[in-house]
Amino acid sequence: MIFEKNILCIGAGYVGGPTMAMIAHKCRQYKIMVVDINADRIAQWNSDDIPIYEPGLDEIVKASRGINLFFSTKIEQGIKESDIIFVSVNTPTKTFGAGAGMAADLQYWEKTARQIREYAESDKIIVEKSTLPVKTALAMERILTSTDNGIHFDILSNPEFLAEGTAIKDLENPDRVLIGSQETPSGLRARDELVKIYAQWVPLEHIITSNIWSSELSKLVSNAFLAQRISSINSISALCEKTDADISEVARAVGMDSRLGNRFLNSSVGFGGSCFKKDILNLVYLCRNYGLDEVADYWEGVVAINDYQEERFVLKILNAMFNTLAGKKICLFGFAFKADTGDTRESPAIFISKRLIEERSELAITDPKALKNAMIDLNGLDGEIKYIEDPYEAAIGSDAIAVMTEWGVYKDIDYEKVFRSMAKPAFIFDGRNILDHKKLFEVGFNVFPIGKPALTHF
Ligand SMILES: NC(=O)c1ccc[n+]([C@@H]2O[C@H](COP(=O)([O-])OP(=O)(O)OC[C@H]3O[C@@H](n4cnc5c(N)ncnc54)[C@H](O)[C@@H]3O)[C@@H](O)[C@H]2O)c1
Repeated sequence: MIFEKNILCIGAGYVGGPTMAMIAHKCRQYKIMVVDINADRIAQWNSDDIPIYEPGLDEIVKASRGINLFFSTKIEQGIKESDIIFVSVNTPTKTFGAGAGMAADLQYWEKTARQIREYAESDKIIVEKSTLPVKTALAMERILTSTDNGIHFDILSNPEFLAEGTAIKDLENPDRVLIGSQETPSGLRARDELVKIYAQWVPLEHIITSNIWSSELSKLVSNAFLAQRISSINSISALCEKTDADISEVARAVGMDSRLGNRFLNSSVGFGGSCFKKDILNLVYLCRNYGLDEVADYWEGVVAINDYQEERFVLKILNAMFNTLAGKKICLFGFAFKADTGDTRESPAIFISKRLIEERSELAITDPKALKNAMIDLNGLDGEIKYIEDPYEAAIGSDAIAVMTEWGVYKDIDYEKVFRSMAKPAFIFDGRNILDHKKLFEVGFNVFPIGKPALTHF
């Protein structure tokens, strides 16, 4: 088959895999190759058991794979053959040197830029898909143009706004696609090429363009605002617990203000995921770098409240269970950082498990999709941890259940049966406020939601 264009994506992760699968699904005229240095990951993408769980992903990968969607480790060949290169490598928080714990670690990013320069034999459009500090495109351009080989590169910023758990829905029906470009004739031509791809399925009014720096910054700001909303409601949940106000009632009243809207107002044990914390810290680092300490302090507070909320949850369990957890069995319902994903990166469940083990409790962890990752996250912890797929079996003999993830299955559980199998008094700590607390209390549980009065039998 003759393809209209060759598209390459470097990085076959949570973003690269699903976004390219969607482009392949919607644009049969393009050949899409996804490459990665991680050969195991590529082998999984080529297998029946793809490496990422996302509702709907399996179907679209299998419908396009081998037709116009290919997964490979041949990075050099991919670069040579492509017209457009999406770069979707990881940009984690730096763990060493200047900016450790705050700045983005751009080593994978820079290595990719150097590889493109080394192997490219024709003009290319390079698309930043990874989330990057504002002004990164400038560094990319300097690397790419540092040898005079006559090849022209246009760099675009096209940050990805998909949310894990709803990635396919978000990709199919995005609120917006943002494309930032240089405002030169060739930058604008490159921008139009990318618009043309998305326009195959996204209405034009949802495809917005901007200058490249606004585009880079918009992604960081968008994640900072989302996380800020979670920290805002979580901070108020602490006040509700002191004053007998109910956070769900407050959230409903606040959210009915059409200026605010009702999304992202569910209080919880805290936000997780690979992006929110990393991107806010990156924003904080940038602000400090430009001497904007007040702005940096403001955003740093969002992360501080999240840490506080996680620790508060542990202390709530400790206080409620008579100030000792030693030898008590606690069953965690869920480990993923949110429902409908197996991803556990920065999941509050990691911190909470570590703290509970420090208090010498025994853990039984259950999750429909994230147990493999949980085992990796808690590997080497000095304590008793069991990983059990079936929630009923996991709860047997435990003193308490702590809901960590808002998986729908936990709402539909037969809690009378669970209660009968547990040690008494039985506790339930609903870290996501998803359960019917009154009903659980009537079953016999001592119930501790977030931001609401506890329901106890003593
Ligand atoms: N996960 C999300 O929900 C999400 C959403 C929006 C944006 N982002 C951003 O997208 C970027 C990628 O995130 P992710 O979650 O997909 O990361 P990921 O870790 O799942 O995937 C990144 C992949 O890049 C590969 N890689 C690294 N260096 C490479 C190189 N030189 N050549 C080829 N492959 C290389 C890694 O092996 C890995 O498989 C990050 O900047 C992230 O902030 C993530």
